[in-house]
Amino acid sequence: METTHRVYVGDARDLSAVADDAVELVVTSPPYPMIEMWDDLFTDLDPAVGDALAAGDGRAAFAAMHAQLDRVWDELERVLVDGGIACINVGDATRSVDGSFRVYPNHARILEAFESRGFDPLPDVLWRKPANSAAKFMGSGTLPPNAYVTLEHEYVLVFRNGVDSREFEPRADRRYEAAFFWEERNRWFSDVWTDVRGELQDLSGDAVDDDLRDRSAAYPLEIPYRLCCMYSAYGDTVLDPFWGTGTTSLAAMCAGRHSIGYELEPAFREVFDDRVASVPDLSRSIGRARLDRHREFVADRRADGKDLSYEADHYDTDVVTKMERGIRFREVSSVVPFEEGYWAEHEPLSIE
Ligand SMILES: C[S@@+](CC[C@H](N)C(=O)[O-])C[C@H]1O[C@@H](n2cnc3c(N)ncnc32)[C@H](O)[C@@H]1O
Repeated sequence: METTHRVYVGDARDLSAVADDAVELVVTSPPYPMIEMWDDLFTDLDPAVGDALAAGDGRAAFAAMHAQLDRVWDELERVLVDGGIACINVGDATRSVDGSFRVYPNHARILEAFESRGFDPLPDVLWRKPANSAAKFMGSGTLPPNAYVTLEHEYVLVFRNGVDSREFEPRADRRYEAAFFWEERNRWFSDVWTDVRGELQDLSGDAVDDDLRDRSAAYPLEIPYRLCCMYSAYGDTVLDPFWGTGTTSLAAMCAGRHSIGYELEPAFREVFDDRVASVPDLSRSIGRARLDRHREFVADRRADGKDLSYEADHYDTDVVTKMERGIRFREVSSVVPFEEGYWAEHEPLSIE
């Protein structure tokens, strides 16, 4: 099986290279309004942002920044199939403007934006993102009442395009082979992810160091990888309109999905050229780690005196539910660049 990963250096407010209904899943993390690192970018997109900040009008700046994101959300409604899922990773912002401190609730504003475009909100996920210690002590130190809570969580907002879920032909292999293990379902579909850092990062051998991760605001690979597995099947196409250093495409390659990315900053494409070299090893280690972890789960469950009812078709292990029997991981055997992106060749995961 081959997957295609297209990367466009361009402005996602106009996704004209992407046809209507060409995408089954969106996984993305926009620049967060009212976080200082994105002020210049938003001002380039609309000078009214810079004017509002200079005038000390936080509300107007927040509104003008979101108006630019809204234009991208308009495009998502067009390119995403009916029933397709959009996952938006975002954090709220705390900031003092004109001497007054407050929170700017990005997640609530984006929720409204999607709902008003005909998306149905689904239960969202919170994950914990530790702030550096300097940011921990906000407001009046240890004196009441003017100390402030530190924001250390982000949201993955989840939306369905329209009211109906996607349908598949009965027993579709690309869906059943992409099933997840029962215990993965319990962990991944919980509403608070406390374990997103660590599960895959150690395996990655990935070329994004901590400094670049901070400058690009890259999210941990676990996030797009899980979301691809949770909300799409093999062969689906995943779009990231705010592609950054391409973490979503890396995850899509490892997960056997096609991907499309849009990014304003041309230099990030070179970063991705380095990252992509790790994909064959990374995809193999992810598949093997999932299987090893499942076998540990099976051993623990047996030790607790509980039985597993089914045998997996492709691996020497038992599984809890009938739906898991067909699980078949893919590994990437090669990645070949072409002008607009990359082709990845996939094989069934080899087990040593
Ligand atoms: C939070 S970062 C995404 C980081 C990415 N998830 C990663 O792991 O590297 C947001 C990215 O969106 C890009 N961006 C902002 N506005 C854009 C627009 N209108 N069109 C395309 N890219 C945009 C920024 O240059 C930045 O790289």
